[in-house]
Amino acid sequence: MAETNRKPVVLLTGASAGIGLALAKLLVREPYRLMLTARSTSLHRFAEAGIHESECLRLCPLDVTSEADRLRVIEEANRVWDGVDILINNAGIAYRAVCEHVTDPDRLEQLNVNYRGPMDLIRLVLPRMRARRFGRILNISSVGGMMAMPTMALYSASKFALEGATEALWYEVRPFGIHVTLVQPGFIRSESFRNTRYTQLSGPASTHVENPYEAHYRHMSGFIARFMERAKSTPEDVAHHILRMMQLSRPPLRSAATFDAHLFAWLRRLLPRRLYHEVLYRSLPGVREWGRSRD
Ligand SMILES: NC(=O)c1ccc[n+]([C@@H]2O[C@H](COP(=O)([O-])OP(=O)(O)OC[C@H]3O[C@@H](n4cnc5c(N)ncnc54)[C@H](OP(=O)(O)O)[C@@H]3O)[C@@H](O)[C@H]2O)c1
Repeated sequence: MAETNRKPVVLLTGASAGIGLALAKLLVREPYRLMLTARSTSLHRFAEAGIHESECLRLCPLDVTSEADRLRVIEEANRVWDGVDILINNAGIAYRAVCEHVTDPDRLEQLNVNYRGPMDLIRLVLPRMRARRFGRILNISSVGGMMAMPTMALYSASKFALEGATEALWYEVRPFGIHVTLVQPGFIRSESFRNTRYTQLSGPASTHVENPYEAHYRHMSGFIARFMERAKSTPEDVAHHILRMMQLSRPPLRSAATFDAHLFAWLRRLLPRRLYHEVLYRSLPGVREWGRSRD
C-alpha cells in the first residue's frame, strides 16, 4: 500500500529531448518529487527549457548504458528520498539498417539503450517498491514493438525484447502491488527521425546507388520522414498520455498512445498472420523497385 503522506518519487530517463522533455515540463507542475535525468552532455537543455533544481527536483546525469551511472542515480534516490516510486524508461535510440548491414557492436548499442539499460534500472528500483508494496514502471515502447518494418530490424528487436520482458515482469510484480505499463506511441510529429542512426555498413549503403539495398533505404527513410512530418500526434500529446497512465489506479499492461498505434494494433490482432504480412509487404513504399539488379 502506498504511504499516504509520501510524495511519489519519479525517475525519468532521456528527459532532455522529445517526449521526455515534454513529459518533464508536465511533471514539474504535478505533486511529485522528480529525478529528471539526461546524458551529461545534454543536461544544459533543462536550463534552456526553464527547468531548474529545487527541493523536489533533482537533475541528474544518467547514460542508461553506463552501469556506474545507473547505480549512482538509484543510490542517490534511495539515500535522499528513500527510493523511486515511479520509473519511466523513456530514453531510446533507433538505428536504420537492413539485417545484412548490422554487426554485433551495433546490436549491442541498440539493445543497451532500449532494453538492457531499462531492465537494469527496473532491477535496481524493485527492492524498495516491493518493500513498500507500491510502484509503477512505465516502459516507452513503440509501434516498432508490435510490428517490424524493413530497415528497422535493430529497433524492433530492442522494442520486442522490452515488450517481452515487461510482459513477464507484469505477472511477477503484480502480487507486490506494482503496476507495469508499456506505452506504445506510433508516428509523432517531431524532429526525432533526424536522430536515426546508421551503422558503419548502412550509412554508406544508403547513399550508394549501386548498393543492392539503396532503394530500401531511400524509400523507407522518405516514407518514415513523411509520416512523422504529417503525424497528428506531438511529443506533448504522448507526454499527456504517459501522465494519464501514471495516474490511473489500474493501468493496462499495454497502451497505444497515438491513433496509428491503435490502428496497427487492431490490424495485427484481426488479420490472419499470413494476410497481414502480405498486405504490409505490398504496401511498402517503392517495393517493386527493391531487389532490381543494376548489373
Ligand atoms: N518519436 C517517435 O515517433 C517515437 C515513436 C515511437 C516510440 N518512440 C519512443 O519514445 C521514446 C522517446 O523518443 P523521442 O521521440 O522523444 O526521441 P528523441 O527526441 O530522439 O529523444 C530521445 C531521448 O533519449 C535520450 N538518450 C539517447 N541515448 C541515451 C542514453 N544512452 N542514455 C540516456 N538517454 C539517452 C536522448 O538524450 P540526448 O539528448 O542526450 O541524445 C533524448 O533525451 C524512445 O524510447 C522512442 O523509442 C518514439
